[in-house]
Amino acid sequence: MLIQRASDISSSEITPENLYHNRREWIKTASAILGLTAVGTIIPACAPTVGAAGEPQAKGKYDTTEKPTPFEDITSYNNYYEFGTGKDDPARNSKNFKPKPWTVKVEGMCKKPATYNLDDLIKGFATEDRIYRMRCVEAWSMVIPWAGFPLKTLIERLEPLPSAKFVEFKTLVDPNQYPEQRRSFLKVLDWPYVEGLRMDEATHPLALIATGIYGKPLPNQNGAPLRLVLPWKYGFKGIKAIVNIRFTDKQPVNTWQQQASQEYGFYANVNPNVDHPRWSQARERRIGEFFKRPTLMFNGYADQVSELYAGMDLRRYY
Ligand code: MTE
Repeated sequence: MLIQRASDISSSEITPENLYHNRREWIKTASAILGLTAVGTIIPACAPTVGAAGEPQAKGKYDTTEKPTPFEDITSYNNYYEFGTGKDDPARNSKNFKPKPWTVKVEGMCKKPATYNLDDLIKGFATEDRIYRMRCVEAWSMVIPWAGFPLKTLIERLEPLPSAKFVEFKTLVDPNQYPEQRRSFLKVLDWPYVEGLRMDEATHPLALIATGIYGKPLPNQNGAPLRLVLPWKYGFKGIKAIVNIRFTDKQPVNTWQQQASQEYGFYANVNPNVDHPRWSQARERRIGEFFKRPTLMFNGYADQVSELYAGMDLRRYY
């Protein structure tokens, strides 16, 4: 993101040729998924309803009816700078990452601060399928069939105090597992990766904690064992491998804002009318497609979320 100049981002770099030309791979992936579904090896509890081509079908009120991006593309074209800055680095370098056992430290203005074993923290939560669009700030997009639970469910369990106005999330710091965290100079980012939300955003029904994709446990490169998914915001708000949740009365400074505040803000709502200083946000390339398509306000979720930002100047609060 930060380290590329607009002129460096050729279309072939944004969507590597193998992703949009290699139809054979898509068909292979789709049949593999169909095969898995047929023999019932996908975890039944969170297996999405699948269509004729083996793709998950929209069934809930939050699902898009757009065609999901193939599993292989979702899991091989990633941003996860702890594993490297190349799109294929996360899949390659995360093979030995250990998402289990996992603990999450909850702190700050809430009634239930503690260090929780992940299984205890989310015990009893029903897993839901959500097919969401994801729009990266770099102007590419995907349609991802997530499995997870509303962030609101978790927040309610932690009982924030009325004084808590924001919630902050942090990713794991573990140089043994993340190659980029072993660098002592020429660091790409300051670690840990940090994100934050206003409480009303965090408790919005669209805000999801994802624990799976395509009915399978979340792959390491996509943020196992738990990550945020906020479909109306740029993808960088979707912090991966969360180990820390803190309730606070001060607006957190997220990683990209800290890195380049003139380019990335706290809100990061998808907005085709506010360009990134180095490229247009009016259009996007859907991974797997050749032609660009228009970007929609709030990534097409305006009906659900615009109320959250009523009266705010979205050019100022970008
Ligand atoms: N979370 C952490 N910890 N580290 C990262 O580098 N990248 C973000 C977000 N979450 C990132 C992260 C960005 S820029 C995007 S676009 C999405 O993850 C990409 O999610 P995906 O790889 O599952 O598509």
